Amino acid sequence: MILSKDIETAAKLLRENEVVALPTETVYGLAANAFSNEAISKIFKVKERPQTNPLIVHIASMDQLDQITTSISENAKRLAAHFWPGPLTLLLPKTEKISDLVTAQSPLVAVRMPDHPLTLALLRELEFPLVAPSANRYMSVSPTTAAHVAVNLTDRIPFILDGGPCEKGLESTVVGFDFNDQPQIYRLGAITLEDLQSVIATTTLFEHGEHDASPSPGMAKKHYAPKTPLRVVDDLKAYLASHHLDPEKKIGVLSFGHQIAPQLGVSIYELSTQKVLEEASKKLYDGLYALDENGLTELVVEWFEPRGLGRTLNDKLKRASY
Ligand code: TXA
Ligand code: MG
Repeated sequence: MILSKDIETAAKLLRENEVVALPTETVYGLAANAFSNEAISKIFKVKERPQTNPLIVHIASMDQLDQITTSISENAKRLAAHFWPGPLTLLLPKTEKISDLVTAQSPLVAVRMPDHPLTLALLRELEFPLVAPSANRYMSVSPTTAAHVAVNLTDRIPFILDGGPCEKGLESTVVGFDFNDQPQIYRLGAITLEDLQSVIATTTLFEHGEHDASPSPGMAKKHYAPKTPLRVVDDLKAYLASHHLDPEKKIGVLSFGHQIAPQLGVSIYELSTQKVLEEASKKLYDGLYALDENGLTELVVEWFEPRGLGRTLNDKLKRASY
């Protein structure tokens, strides 16, 4: 497997129906030609992902939308104009050209314009858009560095386009539209509910009933899980105070400016000493990857204030700890 910044090699492999890992501002993606079923099939195989889980189509310019969607509603246009390129994925009616393999039989296709210079340059070079799920194995944590991709997929893919650590560190926010064209968030991500409401005030979180079929597998209860059990607590310091006496336990702590004193059996990964949510978002998955390699019995983190990126972080923690 090659790790490089060379977009020509990436383009050549993608034209040959190979899969290639690439950087975006959110997380690393595992990319393939969106118009080739042969290439798309390889993604499911490499990730060991069920084909019921649909893929996001990545574009570099609005012109490409004609081949992907039959119509863009007024509110979809407004959100795209405001947030693209950026971590927003829109659910739009698909064209015939988009295969059922991409959408898992849904009439809607997920589309976004990522904001990373290398990947935008690669997309402009290619004659086709790219489908790209996160470049991790199914059910594991999304990768935010080329090294995380290698941990997941060494020997399974020929090439990683190395664009450095991802700027946002959380997946894109997936937004669909109800019958009145009002935006609904199907997956929380790097763009917050408040960000969306500042553009379209009526945006809501899509709530689906306990027994309904999941409309978007990003909503699956368990997701993004590290190998070590993760516990999310209300009061991190109180939890540590009550547990440090158990000599069998080796605890990994994801601290958010908690200033935890060093103690035996406790490893600390600092998400943000100054309690900056953007920094914690950028580092969360790196923290999970880093602590997961340390042979610990348990990882512990405190719930965030449930606003803005804190809401997204809590959502990811809930699924990772389920
Ligand atoms: O930030 C991101 O979105 C990253 C980077 C690589 O772009 N990609 C990513 O892809 O997170 P993936 O496959 O790991 O997650 C795609 C999410 C899933 O929650 C999936 O259910 C939802 O988007 N999705 C995709 N197509 C959909 C569709 N047609 N209808 C409903 N949800 C869809
Ligand atoms: Mg994923």
